[in-house]
Parts: sequence; structure tokens; C-alpha cells
Amino acid sequence: NVYLWSFFFLLFFSICLMTYLNTAGWGTANQSTTYKNSYAQYALDGLNSSCTHTDLQSDPWWTLDLLKTYSVNRVTITNRRDCCSNRINGSEIRVGNDFSDVFSNPIYSCRGMEGRYVTVNIPGTSKILTLCEVGVYGLVFALIYNLATGRTAIQSSTYGLWSAEQAIDFSPGFTKSWSLCSSTTAQTNPWWRVDLCYIYRVSRVVITNRLDCCPERINVAEIRIGNSLENNGNNNPICAVISSIPAGVSSTYTCNGMEGRYVNLFIPGDTKYLTLCEVEQQLQSSVCDNCQ
Ligand SMILES: *[C@@H]1O[C@H](CO)[C@@H](O)[C@H](O)[C@H]1NC(C)=O
Ligand SMILES: *[C@@H]1O[C@H](CO)[C@@H](O)[C@H](O)[C@H]1NC(C)=O
Ligand SMILES: *[C@@H]1O[C@H](CO)[C@@H](O)[C@H](O)[C@H]1NC(C)=O
Repeated sequence: NVYLWSFFFLLFFSICLMTYLNTAGWGTANQSTTYKNSYAQYALDGLNSSCTHTDLQSDPWWTLDLLKTYSVNRVTITNRRDCCSNRINGSEIRVGNDFSDVFSNPIYSCRGMEGRYVTVNIPGTSKILTLCEVGVYGLVFALIYNLATGRTAIQSSTYGLWSAEQAIDFSPGFTKSWSLCSSTTAQTNPWWRVDLCYIYRVSRVVITNRLDCCPERINVAEIRIGNSLENNGNNNPICAVISSIPAGVSSTYTCNGMEGRYVNLFIPGDTKYLTLCEVEQQLQSSVCDNCQ
């Protein structure tokens, strides 16, 4: 009987942990051409007012790399309101795993299609592709658990409104970086730390760099993972050292299941700013609970 109840309990619990979330903001976007400053990332910033825009061209496209494969339940597209709303007519949405030729990925037709790349393209000549917002609802396991545990972030100093929590707000903040990214002031050895509350095996850490300025400030930042708060956690083992991340790009660092409750970003040196638009921790499994 005990076994039977355990089985039902686990079944119920597992269902609760599986959910569809908008995974678009964790990915990296690109488009065939960029008209003025209408960057591909503007479709991911949570704002209907900032939009992407290609040049007038043949077969314009916009592609999102979700960084891992999801079972896609729903794709949402927000069209521009100010003008020319029928330019979007005839566009195709594709989902699949082919990176070298995204047009070979099948057209999205049913729930549960799997893929790492989502492409919106308009076949034909003299077309312009503009997207104000794209959402990709993928099946996510265990992330809710992570959210529910209430991760908290702190940093060595805070520049203006750029609080540490804004690096884990699920928004890359490409247009309103001051309210959606974190930043320290210019200081010696700045750091940022998230407390995962549980000890996890961390498979990957994804860092999104700011789009609006100074992407080089992230260079030589160290990703450290462990359980010690010695030197504010900055003495924990290193998963990776960031050489550089282009503006607005999300880079993935593989940590091979390094165990820890704390994930730090640390820049050694004088007069350094540590600015983070999004830090996602991809977790394999929890080892034990520490935040009760
Ligand atoms: C984005 O697409 C352009 C046009 O195809 C290509 O030249 C560029 O390398 C791509 N950038 C990235 C980061 O993939
Ligand atoms: C953006 O537009 C969509 C579709 O009209 C709407 O559902 C959504 O609430 C809007 N979001 C914001 C932040 O205004
Ligand atoms: C685009 O679609 C809308 C709605 O179906 C339609 O009113 C409009 O005429 C179409 N425009 C073109 C250029 O096909």
C-alpha cells in the first residue's frame, strides 16, 4: 500500500513539475538583414513596442536558437500595430534541429513538434519581415521547482536601478536594460551570485550579454560554482572563463555536472563593471535541500 501511494504521489508530483513556459527569451536570435537598429533580439524583449525589421529583400528570415531541444506546444507572434500589418502575410514558422539549413526544418503544424531552432520566414521577392514579439512555449521540466524555491541574487555593488535580481528575471532586457539587467558600479573585483537554495549538479550556464553598449566589459569574467561563501563565493571552482560574448548574444558554458548551491560571476581587476542581462542555470538534479 505504501508503495502504491508513493507511486501516485510521484505521478502527481511529476505532472505538476512539467509545464509549458515561454522559452524564447532564453535563446539567441538572428535575422537575414537588419534595417537601421531593429535588432533580431527585439522580438524577445517582452515589449510590443520594439520590433525587428529586415531590409527589403528576397526570402527574409528570423531565427531563434533555443540552445536546446524543446517539445514546442505553441508559437505566438505579435505583429506591428503602427503600419503595414499585412507584410506578415504568407510567412512560415518552422521548428526543427537542422542548423545548417533552417529552411529544411518542417513548417510548424502540430503541438509537440520538437526542435532547437524556430524560424519565421517570408518566401518571395521584395519582402520585409518585422516581428514585435515571438513566444515559443516549450515543455519544461523541473524549472518550476527551481522558480518555486525562490532563487535570490546579490552583487558586490549596484549601479542605479540595475539590481542583481534583474539577471534572473527571465527577460534579457534588450531595450530597457536599466530595469531588466543587473550591474555593479565600476569597482575592483566585482561579483554577482545566485543562491539556488539546493545543491544542484549544474550542466550548463547561459549568459546573455547586453545589447546596447560595451559588450567587452564581460570579458574575462569567471563562472564559479560551489558551496563555499569564502571570499563571497569567489573561491569556488571555476566552470569557465568568458573570453567574450557579442552584444545581445546568449553564450552557453558547459559545467559537466559541477555541484553547488552558489553560482558566481566574478571579474578580477580594477575599475570593472559586471553587467548581466540574463543568467540561466541549466540544472541536472538536486543533491540536497539547504534553504529551509
Ligand atoms: C546572423 O546571420 C547573418 C546573415 O546570415 C550571418 O552573417 C551571421 O554570421 C549570423 N550571426 C550569428 C551570430 O550567427
Ligand atoms: C502585446 O500584444 C499582445 C497581442 O496583442 C497582447 O496579448 C499582450 O498583452 C501585449 N503585451 C504587452 C506587454 O503590451
Ligand atoms: C493580408 O491578410 C489580411 C487579412 O487576411 C488581408 O486583409 C490583406 O488583404 C492581406 N494582404 C495581402 C497583401 O495579401
